[in-house]
Order: sequence, then structure tokens, then C-alpha cells
Amino acid sequence: MVDHTFGGEWTEDKLRALGQYLSAYRVIFTRNQKARYFKTIYVDAFAGTGTRKERSVEVDERQSELFDQDEEIEIGGFKDGSARIALSLESPFDKYIFVDKNPEHIAELNAMIAEDFPQLKPRCHVWQADGCDVMAELCRYRDWQKERAVAFLDPYGMNVEWELIERIAATKAIDLWLLFPLGMGINRLLTRDGRPNPIFASKLTRMFGTDKWQDHFYRNEAMPADLFAEQRTITRKEATFEGIGRFYLERLATVFAGVCPQFKLLYNTRGNPLYMLCFAASNPIGAKPAIEIAHYLLGK
Ligand SMILES: C[S@@+](CC[C@H](N)C(=O)[O-])C[C@H]1O[C@@H](n2cnc3c(N)ncnc32)[C@H](O)[C@@H]1O
Repeated sequence: MVDHTFGGEWTEDKLRALGQYLSAYRVIFTRNQKARYFKTIYVDAFAGTGTRKERSVEVDERQSELFDQDEEIEIGGFKDGSARIALSLESPFDKYIFVDKNPEHIAELNAMIAEDFPQLKPRCHVWQADGCDVMAELCRYRDWQKERAVAFLDPYGMNVEWELIERIAATKAIDLWLLFPLGMGINRLLTRDGRPNPIFASKLTRMFGTDKWQDHFYRNEAMPADLFAEQRTITRKEATFEGIGRFYLERLATVFAGVCPQFKLLYNTRGNPLYMLCFAASNPIGAKPAIEIAHYLLGK
């Protein structure tokens, strides 16, 4: 078994909310006369192995230069990951799409499906690829007149940029559970000693889909002139974790039919927020009940 290590207490919270949402979703799509018309798809674009071992947060190699590598979490046993949780539902989805870029994780996932869920194998599509690329293709090419989906985007880092968020919202058929890296990535790019350099600024703009973060998170302040110097302006960072989270939800609300106002900050063992778990629904008819369920789960 691949030793796939990440998470801690907060991973429990995240996966509990996801699992309970998927259950409720399938109940709606089996009991509601109109909803029954649709085929349902579960998309796990950063699927992992299906199982997880709690020890430390791994960081996507591409992003590792941005992060401290010492987000140590308590050691634990093997637990169910998102893929296993989704496959274990009492009422399974009509189709499962699992994506991971790591070939070992894909091998592990395939083995788990073959051994533990052979009856669901025909419904499963497992791809070794970039999760964002696959997600974008699904948005473009699936028949969203006949299908509805829940997408779980659970990357380690800042993979999910605004362009993809817009694509998902435009389907008007996908409910999105997203792990937004507000402490793990965003807050570290929002530098304290002056505004972010052009590389960081450009990444922040691609994450938020606007450069308005500049106005939200920085303030220019005129310093009084003293005897020896002329008046000068300094730039202060004014970003709190809560503020970053709220700003991102406001951004989601510009493209999604509904956004859950509640979010969950997921902390490391030292009490620093690493991620925000949030939810948005793109279908105008389904958004209201979807948000109510997510609100309840995120408030727990
Ligand atoms: C936090 S883990 C996912 C855990 C999973 N949701 C679970 O609950 O078991 C993130 C996963 O994303 C994969 N990954 C990293 N970059 C990726 C990318 N660009 N596309 C797809 N998967 C990627 C990693 O190999 C890792 O398995």
C-alpha cells in the first residue's frame, strides 16, 4: 500500500462534510421525480489513493518553494480517503471519475476499486492526468442537459485557478466542494513587507480572477513628514484569514448560482489555518437545497 500521508483532525472534518453531502445528494437524485431524470457523476480531480495515513502534509512538488515543509500533523492509522468514501455510499453515483497525477496513487486506486468495489468498476474512470485539465474537459464536453455532478477539488496547493472555477460555474450542473489554500498558499503570497512581487501578484490575480485583491488586502498610508525627510507613503497588509476567505466567497458568488456563506477553516496542529473548505452550487434550481445542506454540514 502506498504510504500516502497528509491531513489530521481537519481532514476528518473535510471528509465528513463531503461524505454526508454525497449521501444527501444521492437521496435527492433517487427520490425526487424531476431529479431522477439526471445521471449523476462524482468527480474527484485530486483523488489520492482512496486511503490516507495521517502523518504530515505533503506538498505538491511544483509549489513546494512557496511552502514551509514542516506542517507536521499527528501520526495515525490508515483511514478512508475521498474516493473510498464516495464509492461506499449506500446509493452510488452513476459514474465516478478519479484523477491523480501520481502513477502510484492511480495504481493504488485501481487496485482498491478492483478488490473492494468490483460491482462499481464499470462505473469508474480512473485517469493519471492533471486534475484541472480533466475538470476543464469535463465542463466542456459532457452533456450537462442530462447529467449532474459533484466535483471535489482537494489539491495540496494553488492548482485551481479562476478560469477553471468559471468553467465549472458555467455548466450550471456541477456542485463544487473546494479546498482553497488560503493559508497554505494565498496568505504567503500576500507579503507583509510591501505589495507582492509581480510573480506572486500575477498568481494571486489568477487565483481570484481579478486584481481587486490589491484593494482588499493592502492599504497605502501617508507617513507624516519629519524634519529630515519628505512625506512618504507606506503600504500595509490588511489581510486576515477570515477576510481572505470572505473575499473568495464574494468572488465565487459572481459566477455561481449559490455559494454557501459558511466555510470551514482547516488548521494545522499549531493552530494556523492552512485551507478553507467551501461549497458552491452552479445549478439555479438545485442551488437552494444544496446550499442549505452544505451550510448545515459546514456549520457542524
Ligand atoms: C490532498 S491529496 C487528495 C486526497 C484525497 N482527496 C483523499 O481524501 O484521499 C492531493 C492529491 O492530488 C494529487 N495531485 C497533485 N497535483 C495534481 C495535479 N496537478 N492533478 C491531479 N492530481 C494531483 C496528489 O498526488 C495527491 O494524491
